[in-house]
Amino acid sequence: MAVRSVRGLEMAYEEAGRGVPVVLLHGFPFNRTLWRDQTETLSATHRVVAPDLRGFGETSVGEGDTATMEEMARDVAALMDELKIERAILGGLSMGGYVALAFCRLFSRRVRALVLADTRPQSDTEEGRANREVMARRALDEGMGAIAEAMMPKLLAPATHMKNPQAVARVREMILSTKPEAAAAALRGMAVRQDHTNWLQNVLQPTLIVVGSEDQLTPPADSETMRGEIRGSRLEVIEGAGHVSNVERPKEFNAALTKFLKDLQP
Ligand code: MLT
Repeated sequence: MAVRSVRGLEMAYEEAGRGVPVVLLHGFPFNRTLWRDQTETLSATHRVVAPDLRGFGETSVGEGDTATMEEMARDVAALMDELKIERAILGGLSMGGYVALAFCRLFSRRVRALVLADTRPQSDTEEGRANREVMARRALDEGMGAIAEAMMPKLLAPATHMKNPQAVARVREMILSTKPEAAAAALRGMAVRQDHTNWLQNVLQPTLIVVGSEDQLTPPADSETMRGEIRGSRLEVIEGAGHVSNVERPKEFNAALTKFLKDLQP
């Protein structure tokens, strides 16, 4: 783990390997260790950078009670500046995907290719927004145990809950180690995120979309929408995985990712 000062934050990140840079953005309420298996595999051929987004993992909490997807995208761009990475293959899972879309909109030229995993282009519904505030209050008042309890059943596929105790423990541990104020700020940030559905046609980069067949939070239908909107994009459905497909089925997820990266080579 390394730390850089960017935009008033002490930003922690993992870095491994050499070659074309790949920047991987974690989902909510996780941290950079979400990408452990991908970092290990991809670092054989690429320079992999996985930051802890604003407030998460070992990155300090920013000012204000709302962490927008644009703020997080600007943090990532500033970290890339620090690391002398002009352009990267950018990947994000769920909230990381929201940040990746915001990044692509703000800094399109810095994106060599895009990986959107278990995510969606829509903004929240009215009901979804209200629920974010309830969750933010719960995180602050009751702590991350309450958030883990609320989220765990929906995060992972039934088969993962039954047969993969290590994945269950890893996901729970990431949630429990998250700072409540970071979770609350990100929830409020996700609640006000922009709808990218009609913007997706502006994505000109090669794009891989990955989704677990059992993803309840951002179901395969959302990925189908993105595939329909992003010209030439590829969709890989990971059978039997839920919302955290890269942790639930790392072998299949890595195979999809590795193939995509290989096909990108000039
Ligand atoms: C995530 O996994 O990042 C979140 O579940 C996304 C969301 O709540 O919209």
